[in-house]
Amino acid sequence: MILSIESSCDDSSIAITRLSDKKLLFHKKISQDAEHAHYGGVVPELAARLHAVTLPKILEEAKPYFPHIKAIAVTNEPGLSVTLIEGVVMAKSLSIALSVPLLGINHLKGHIYSLFIDTQTHFPMDVLLVSGGHTQLLHVKSLEHIELLATTMDDSFGESFDKVGKMLGLPYPAGPIIEAYAKKGNEKKFDFTIPLLASKQMAFSYSGLKNQVRLCVEAQEHLDEQTIYDICASFQRIAVAHLMRQIKKAYKERKIERFGVVGGASANLYLRGHLDAFCASKKAPLLTAKMEFCSDNAAMIGRCGVECFEKGYFSSLETLKIRSSSKDIFF
Ligand code: KG4
Ligand code: ZN
Repeated sequence: MILSIESSCDDSSIAITRLSDKKLLFHKKISQDAEHAHYGGVVPELAARLHAVTLPKILEEAKPYFPHIKAIAVTNEPGLSVTLIEGVVMAKSLSIALSVPLLGINHLKGHIYSLFIDTQTHFPMDVLLVSGGHTQLLHVKSLEHIELLATTMDDSFGESFDKVGKMLGLPYPAGPIIEAYAKKGNEKKFDFTIPLLASKQMAFSYSGLKNQVRLCVEAQEHLDEQTIYDICASFQRIAVAHLMRQIKKAYKERKIERFGVVGGASANLYLRGHLDAFCASKKAPLLTAKMEFCSDNAAMIGRCGVECFEKGYFSSLETLKIRSSSKDIFF
């Protein structure tokens, strides 16, 4: 079995995955949403201090599996350095105590493997990763061969939901609240423009849309409930329209075998509906992670860890390092 640890941002999570059939045997996550809600975003130092309390608590529950552990998988990039270190220090201590090797796992690869928890992988595939830190379109041939087709020039998709939420006085993370409010609003009420409309560039951009929403909020004399719902609906419509427009552009000439959507914001059903229609038009299946595995979790890190274990990608106490950014991970 593999014991996996995730602490790249504000979720403390530990999982146990069986090597023989990739089955998830144990998974627990303690989210810090409530502690950060008040600040409108994640406060790194606070997150690190909370991990130091919650990770050992979860580990206590995983103790019965210790005699069966063959390796420790831990997210070591990308993420907040002060929170990554909490997971990595625990992983190194466990590696010494249990005399087992370490597996350093890239968090973004972990999200890709959230599609294959309890199952075999299906590559090649194309993947849209939409989270709080990333908006990437990827062509995945294997664990080692991932091509970056497009990324964001500024804010990420999930981050734009959080920032719009902050403008509207909503707590962090605002993504699920905006999705719920949008259902009660008129999505045509405010006419925001789709980002990069005139550009041929294969990229995403959310800072301009965020600014349009800010100006709209400032222009309201009275921000009543219905206006907030209408802003949420109008913003979500354009945020998703931009994603879909760039995706359609990317696959005008490219074939798609299968398409996956991962990351915290992939829980958005409005987005899933649009991706469903797109995949149907391309006659490609749409793969989605179970709702509980969309946001950060150790189950996806453990599943990716199984793959790394099978290929012998071990790290030692000396070689396992944290990296807060990971521009060069797609080899
Ligand atoms: O993957 P994740 O848990 O953490 C990162 O690796 O960043 O993603 C969290 C992000 C937050 O920005 C949150 O607002 C967004 O995912 N999110 C959503 C929804 N649920 C979570 N965004 C839009 N709609 C949602 N339903
Ligand atoms: Zn994530």
